[in-house]
Amino acid sequence: MNIRPRRNRKSEGVRRMVEETKVTTSDFIFPLFLLEDANGSIEVDSMPGIYRLGLEKLLKEIEACMTLGVTAFDVFPVVPESYKDKTATKSYDPNFFYQKALSRIKKEFPEAVIMTDVALDPYNSDGHDGLVKDGKILNDETLEVLGKMALAQAQTGIDIIGPSDMMDGRVGYIREVLDDNGFQDVSIMSYTAKYASAFYGPFRDALDSAPKSGDKKTYQMNPANQREALIEADLDVEEGADFLMVKPALAYLDVIKLLKDNYAQPIAAYNVSGEYAMLKAAGQKGWLDYDRAMVETLLSIKRAGADVILTYHAKEFAQLFR
Ligand code: PBG
Repeated sequence: MNIRPRRNRKSEGVRRMVEETKVTTSDFIFPLFLLEDANGSIEVDSMPGIYRLGLEKLLKEIEACMTLGVTAFDVFPVVPESYKDKTATKSYDPNFFYQKALSRIKKEFPEAVIMTDVALDPYNSDGHDGLVKDGKILNDETLEVLGKMALAQAQTGIDIIGPSDMMDGRVGYIREVLDDNGFQDVSIMSYTAKYASAFYGPFRDALDSAPKSGDKKTYQMNPANQREALIEADLDVEEGADFLMVKPALAYLDVIKLLKDNYAQPIAAYNVSGEYAMLKAAGQKGWLDYDRAMVETLLSIKRAGADVILTYHAKEFAQLFR
């Protein structure tokens, strides 16, 4: 035998030298859940270790993460039911606690990268990402609300807008609204291939944002489809997206690879709430080694081609390798 692959595995030093993929804290965007009560803190039952935090606590969390090297955050609001209505008006009200909190976060941490989510579901009484009429999700009418929401978020000084709604034409529409209002420098990370997935369950618990009726299959993609992601990606690129995202990550590693191979834009992957919950639950039961399973999971997403990983593991990973 003149070729013995085991030679390159013989010691920690050699293994480290030939390691092909490295995950670092600069790959991460850490999703955070914002409560209205400034000093509130409520753990998400289905996401042990993840808390919905009021602004004061959230600022402290960001500070702690920054010192660990996690410097990008996606902030989601927990909207009390009493604020929700058919047309999601709070989503573009500059005086709403979420928009005000974003300004404060950017003021306290100008060097942090702050991302926001654009979709109606946390704010509308139907729990859908778009406007609902007679049980149907309206596309073009929804764009107008998404545009106003994106603008209100941009006005707080945030860095990246993340349209997660899957309405047709929204990236181009939002780009135009932003540009018309002087926000050329605000980036768009499009949820390009967002699947109608069971893995969002714990997130919807966290935000209390599950659809009141029906499902999201008329706008989110069919988990059976891969090539359709190319149609979405073509459109997003044409409409001006700066990043293309695949979501969820683990059951869709092939889609991450497909987009990586076909586009020069940075590829993001959202390692979603249900993926986090699975590892946590098995780890807590002692059924697997949580830390190792976490690192292996994040490596798989990076290896598939993700340049950016949105993950609830971000802080724990950083603590593990501090
Ligand atoms: C809002 C949105 C969702 C997630 C991110 N933005 C939920 C959904 O579309 O139902 C899911 C994130 C996660 O599960 O971690 N449209």
